[in-house]
Order: sequence, then structure tokens, then C-alpha cells
Amino acid sequence: MGYRILETDDIPAYLHERGHWADVTDIHVREVSDGNMNRVFLASNADGSHSLAVKQALPWVRVAGPSWPMSPERADAEARAYEQVAKVAPDKIPVIHGYDADNYALVMEDMSDLEVLRTVLNEGASYGPDASARIGEFVAQLTFATSDFGMDSADRKALIAASVSPELCKITEDVVLSEPYIEHEHNHWLPELADLAASFRADARLRTEVADLRYTFMTSAQALLHGDLHTGSVMVGEREGAPVVRVFDPEFSFVGPIGYDLGLYWANVLVSEERARELGALTDHGDQLRLSWEAFETEFRRLWPTRVDTFFDDAFVDRFLSRVWTDSVGYAGTEIVRRIIGFAHLTDLTTLPDPVPASRRTLLLGRELIVRREELTSPEHIRALV
Ligand SMILES: Nc1ncnc2c1ncn2[C@@H]1O[C@H](COP(=O)(O)OP(=O)(O)OP(=O)(O)O)[C@@H](O)[C@H]1O
Ligand SMILES: [Mg+2]
Repeated sequence: MGYRILETDDIPAYLHERGHWADVTDIHVREVSDGNMNRVFLASNADGSHSLAVKQALPWVRVAGPSWPMSPERADAEARAYEQVAKVAPDKIPVIHGYDADNYALVMEDMSDLEVLRTVLNEGASYGPDASARIGEFVAQLTFATSDFGMDSADRKALIAASVSPELCKITEDVVLSEPYIEHEHNHWLPELADLAASFRADARLRTEVADLRYTFMTSAQALLHGDLHTGSVMVGEREGAPVVRVFDPEFSFVGPIGYDLGLYWANVLVSEERARELGALTDHGDQLRLSWEAFETEFRRLWPTRVDTFFDDAFVDRFLSRVWTDSVGYAGTEIVRRIIGFAHLTDLTTLPDPVPASRRTLLLGRELIVRREELTSPEHIRALV
């Protein structure tokens, strides 16, 4: 492996050595890793006035151990994405204090005063006025800046080359954009959904549409993406009375189709809506897709006059955004499907007293989003379908 794997007890000396912390005797550390992939430690001093988070990628998938090797270079992708976002949307990510490329470790702001959006939603709270709008803006700001509208052509080619992430893209190509539609040992589902899983595998039209989205994912180098923009990659809360939204964990970042980021978020929004419907606890769920799209579109159009290449004219941006919309609808569908009959499922549904009705409804919605995405041209069309 050739690098230093940090344990809880190593963190104080590590932070001191790296120049992040003066008094090495006053650092208390706890591990808070709750994801599948990496380790996260929180360090704070005795009176709580100073704290930092350390995230390190191991040379394997954390929850699987050495039997599932995975290159720690995913941490490079995460650091690179944060570096790009910091230029255009620093208020929407944690403050990054440093990246140690030798040890694949990122030192960043401690956000433990905030909560993961999925947790907040699963506990029955609403989104509030801010979360989806900030996320839509986040996607617009990151993707405009790293597209051929925001960067000169040579810099863009360099960004594309530097951001190639074959291992993590392959995970998405397999787990999200093919396995759920074929027989595969990764797939599993509730027994009551076996009929739908079988019909999806036999559905030639569905498969061709997923192939189309998969091909776009593989080839459409529109802009730098977050790559895993689900509600577990967003923290929300309040600081000094003002709402705070922070997007984190961009380790799947690569240069791809913008609709992939929006679609992933929308899938999670729609799944959380079906959870709330099942529990009789619907609040503002139905507004979120529209709010995030409107914020994305508004911000993208606001930035449009600053584009570096004015051969792309005003009529072109309309066409471009309408393609992004259609891709987003399709990717929302693929993300829903894979979260119900694929490898990794969502607690939104799995923790329901009876997950079957909501899972069936959502799965059928996912299929419609994929196959009918060309005719679903507005948030209202999607509301009608839901
Ligand atoms: N900067 C931070 N401040 C406070 N807590 C954090 C911070 N970063 C991560 N966490 C906590 O650690 C958890 C895991 O972080 P993260 O999602 O980045 O790791 P991961 O291993 O890449 O997860 P996944 O398997 O979902 O990809 C988060 O859900 C959150 O609870
Ligand atoms: Mg992650």
C-alpha cells in the first residue's frame, strides 16, 4: 500500500506535523466513519473552540476490507473537485484546510454541528426553503465554471485529462447503469418486487434507453461533476440564525454529463417523497425537484453572459439546458431503479414499517422517467406522473 493508514490515536500527531494544530496535547479524536468507503475522524480541543475533520481513503472499501481493493486515488478526485468548487461556490462546501496526496488524507472543516440531509428527512423534517435551491445553484456554479462556457478550451482539455477516474466511473457504469437490468449477483430486492425486477430485465425498450443514458455518461464530457450528489452527500443546519447547506463527499467526481448530478439528487428527492407519503408525513417534498431545477437554470443563465466562447449564442443555451433537463430526468430514473432492485438500497425505503408499497410505486416511477424522458419536459409533467 505504501502509505500511512491513520488510526484514531495517530491523528493528534498527524495534525500537528501537518501544521494544522499547535498544541498536540490538547486534541481529542473520535472516528465517525459511517459511509462505505473511507474513514473520517473528528478532532477537537478540550473547550471545543477548535475542531477539524480528517478523511482518509484506504486502499480498499472500508466496510469490505482488503478483500475488496480500491485505489485510494479517489481521494485525489475529491480534493480536485473541492479545489474547483472553492473557486466558484466556496460557501457550499466545507472549508478545505489541506490535502495530503502522499497519504490520501483531506483535512477539512468540522461540520458536526450540521446534519446529513437524508437523516433529517428520514426523521420527518422538511427540506426548508433553502436546501434544494442551494443544491441547484451548486450544480450550476460548478458545471458552468468547468464547462467550455466557463473555461478556455486548452484548460478544459487539461481538466478533462486530470479528472479521468476510471475505477469510480466503472462502479457507476456497472452498479447504476447496467446491473439492475441484467441478471447479476449484486442485485437484490424485496420478494414482493420480484415480478417487477423480472419485467425490467425483460424490457427491451427500457434497456435501450438505459444504454443511451449509459453511453452519454461514458462519453459526454460536459463539465466537472460531483458524481454522487445524493441526500447523504449534503449537510444542512443553521449557523448564527442563517440556514447553511454544504455539499460534501465528491470522490466520484469526473467530467461528465451535467444531468447526472441533478438526476441523482432528484431520485433521492422522489424516494424521500414516497417515504413521506407512506408515513402520511408529506411536507414540502413535492416542490424540491422544481426548486432545484429553477435554481440551477437561473444560475446557469445568470452566468451565461460571462461565457468565454461567444460563438455559443443565446439560442444555444436554451437548447443546451433543455438537453440537460432531459438527461436529468433519465438519470433520476436510473438512480431510483438501482436503489430498489440493484446493489445498494436506501434507508428511506428500507426502514419503512412496510417498504413494499412505496418501493413498488417508486420503481414504476423510475421506469417512466427513463423511457418517457423526452416527453416529460417540465417539473409539472413529473408532478403529474408522481
Ligand atoms: N467534515 C465533516 N465534518 C463532520 N462530519 C463529517 C465530515 N465529513 C464526513 N463526516 C461524517 O462522516 C460520514 C462519512 O463521510 P463521507 O460520506 O464523506 O464518507 P464516505 O466513506 O465517502 O461515504 P460513502 O460510503 O457514502 O461514500 C458522513 O456521513 C458524516 O457523518
Ligand atoms: Mg463517499
